[in-house]
This record gives sequence, structure tokens and C-alpha cells, in this order.
Amino acid sequence: MNLSEIISKIKTKKWKNLDENVILEKIDLFLKRNPKTDIEKLTEKEIRPIIKFVRQELHRSYGAFQSDVYKRNRLLNELKKETPNNERNKEQEINEIKLKILKTHSSTRERLDLYDEIKKDLANLIKNKIILDLGCGLNPLMFDENKIIAAEFNKDDVDFLNEYFSFANKKSKAILLDLTKVENIEKLKEYKVDVIFAWKLFDLLNSNIIEAIMNLDAVKIVSFSTKTLGNRKMNSPKRKWFENRLNAMNLDYETARFESEIFYIIK
Ligand SMILES: C[S@@+](CC[C@H](N)C(=O)[O-])C[C@H]1O[C@@H](n2cnc3c(N)ncnc32)[C@H](O)[C@@H]1O
Repeated sequence: MNLSEIISKIKTKKWKNLDENVILEKIDLFLKRNPKTDIEKLTEKEIRPIIKFVRQELHRSYGAFQSDVYKRNRLLNELKKETPNNERNKEQEINEIKLKILKTHSSTRERLDLYDEIKKDLANLIKNKIILDLGCGLNPLMFDENKIIAAEFNKDDVDFLNEYFSFANKKSKAILLDLTKVENIEKLKEYKVDVIFAWKLFDLLNSNIIEAIMNLDAVKIVSFSTKTLGNRKMNSPKRKWFENRLNAMNLDYETARFESEIFYIIK
């Protein structure tokens, strides 16, 4: 079986809009871990573990956060209809639709009750600032007052956000970018921003990428979930490895802790 046949087996349903290079990378990872595999010679049956591995990896990197993309797009159309008549009495309806949208991504869903508190706490760093939101998911929907450059490698999210920005936050844009590539972190330098968000992202990236992001010229606000995958509270929510890295880079930081998330502010 050849490589493009394997890719087309993976690119069904949920992954049909996925950039092929992302799939190729995961296949490469499998081959690195299983160096004796000769991919061209595998039978249909022998290919199954590769497909399973790639799907698991894709799910881990970004599928795990999405719930219902169809529902989200339907809600976006509802929101679009309401927004041009953004009168006072419509405000509540608009907020309700937005809430429903934010609930379709696990990270924003977990943070819903905390946004007011977080935004208040970070107000002096965020107000009137240009934000680069890395691995943004749907988080930019909560920052309509700001200009946002929203970077994601999930094309569905990027398309969704650009559609949203086109009527709700015209100064902002979303870009499709794989943050596992150092050269893509370099590309980010073309955007002049005040603040960089990396919220619930660094557990998914390796250390040289994290270091490259930390070297970008802006205030960084980095967050980590303090809940385990099983939704329990972590015994030790601080990320010692991250603190060690910041110390090694001679970077000062402050922390802000909330119910289910810890933030590191690096100026
Ligand atoms: C845990 S979610 C956090 C979403 C958002 N930052 C938040 O906290 O609401 C991680 C996000 O990072 C994105 N992501 C994961 N790996 C990525 C990569 N290599 N490049 C760009 N985005 C990535 C995922 O698609 C997902 O939306």
C-alpha cells in the first residue's frame, strides 16, 4: 500500500479538512518509533496499527478539544443574523449564542465561569493591546475589544474564526499555522503585537519550540490546566518544568491561579 492510500484512509470524516503535512508528520513519527517498518510493503491488515496510531495522535493534538463543529457553524449563522441589529435588547441573545459556541471547545468550556475574573486580573496587560493568541481554539471570541492575530493549525477553527471576525471583530484575523515548526515561530515575528497568549498549549509543544516562543518580543501570558484528564484537581498544579525553564532563561515571572487554570505572566 502506498503513502497516499494510507493518507486517504486517515482523511475521512473528522479529518477530511486536515492539512496532509500534519498527517505525514504523524506517520513519520510512527516510522521513527518503528524503524523496521517498510511502509510500501505493508498489507491492508498491517497498515491498521499505523492508522490507529496517527488517529490517536491527531486526537491528542487537536481533535480532543472539539465537540460539535456542525452545531458550532449553525450557531455562528444565528449570531451573524443577530449582530447587525446589535441593539441593547439583543445583547442578551447574542451573549447566549456566544456562550453556546464557546461550549463546543473543551478549553473555553472549562474557562467559561472564570473569564470575568481572569480578564479583570489581567486587565492592565490586555486592555487596548494587540494580542497574538497561539493555539487559540475559540478563545478569541472573548476578546472582541482587542485586535487579535489568532494562530491555529486546525483549519476548521481558522475558517470559523475568520468568519466570526468578518462581522464581530473586523480588526482581527486568524492564520493557519503549525506551531511545532521553528520556522513558523520565526514567521510570527512579522506581527507586531503587545501580548502573546499561549493558553493550555505548552503541554502539547516540545521544549525548543517553547523556548523560541518565549524569545518573541512581547509580554507572554501562558496558562496550564490544573485539572487532570479525568477532570480531577491536580495535586500540584504548578508546572515545575516550566518554571525551571524560565529560570534557566533568566526570565522573571508572576503567577495567577484560578479554579481550573494557572497563568504565568512573563514580561
Ligand atoms: C487545549 S487547546 C487550548 C485552546 C485555547 N488556547 C484555549 O485555551 O482556550 C489547544 C489548542 O492548540 C491547538 N494546537 C495544538 N497543537 C498545535 C500546533 N502544533 N499548532 C497550532 N495549534 C495547535 C489545538 O488545535 C487546540 O485548539
